[in-house]
Amino acid sequence: MNIVSEGKTKKVEDLGTEVMLHFKDDITAGDGAKHDVLQNKGAICSEITARLMKYLNEKGIYTMYLEYLPPNKIRARKLKMIPLEVIVRFKKAGSFVRRYGGNEGEDLPSPLVEFTYKSDTLHDPLMCVEHLEVLGITTKEIAQSIIQQAKEAGNYLKEFFESHSIELWDMKFEFGLDLDGKVCLGDEISPDTMRLRKSGEIFDKDIYRRDLGNPLEKYEVVLKLCQSIDL
Ligand code: C5P
Repeated sequence: MNIVSEGKTKKVEDLGTEVMLHFKDDITAGDGAKHDVLQNKGAICSEITARLMKYLNEKGIYTMYLEYLPPNKIRARKLKMIPLEVIVRFKKAGSFVRRYGGNEGEDLPSPLVEFTYKSDTLHDPLMCVEHLEVLGITTKEIAQSIIQQAKEAGNYLKEFFESHSIELWDMKFEFGLDLDGKVCLGDEISPDTMRLRKSGEIFDKDIYRRDLGNPLEKYEVVLKLCQSIDL
């Protein structure tokens, strides 16, 4: 197997013009300071990612998703990843509340897109579009295209979860450029990367971040909802 990179939760196998993503059972928080292995997590998060990306593909969002190979693999387009976490927020929570105040779960007047630079050593600093240009991370045109696609994808996911009576508060996307240089949604979409709530009940990684028990029970509830999306 030609593993070309390994992150905290995924390994990337090179297949030539495509890649195979292997989702691991690891869960981390606090830039990797907290780390555990939860059996079956890779399978749950890869299937949720596959089904939500399939749903987004059908809505016209260009994603990496090609095929789900149970239990924990996704065959995907090969992308040159842009080292950014693209956060879409519908409600105030997490680092937004720590930085700007307000209360967890308060509505934002309109969806907000934030960029943070992927770097554990720098603790993922927040960046505006000018930082991206000046630091040579990406161009203004690509940044604008990412903002547009992130908002659209966020709105479609919000609609999906609302139809299952769950609120989507915020989420993190990662984008890359495909072999033709086209912006494409990559990485993962799972309860590890979204805040999902239902009248105070938590269905996402905050269960782990806040030591509230085994998050996989709730991740499985999310998987069941996503199984309404055909592969
Ligand atoms: O912590 P923060 O409020 O910035 O997180 C916003 C959203 O992005 C949350 O849904 C969180 O799970 C996700 N996120 C992520 N990976 C990170 C940071 C945040 O998936 N490294």
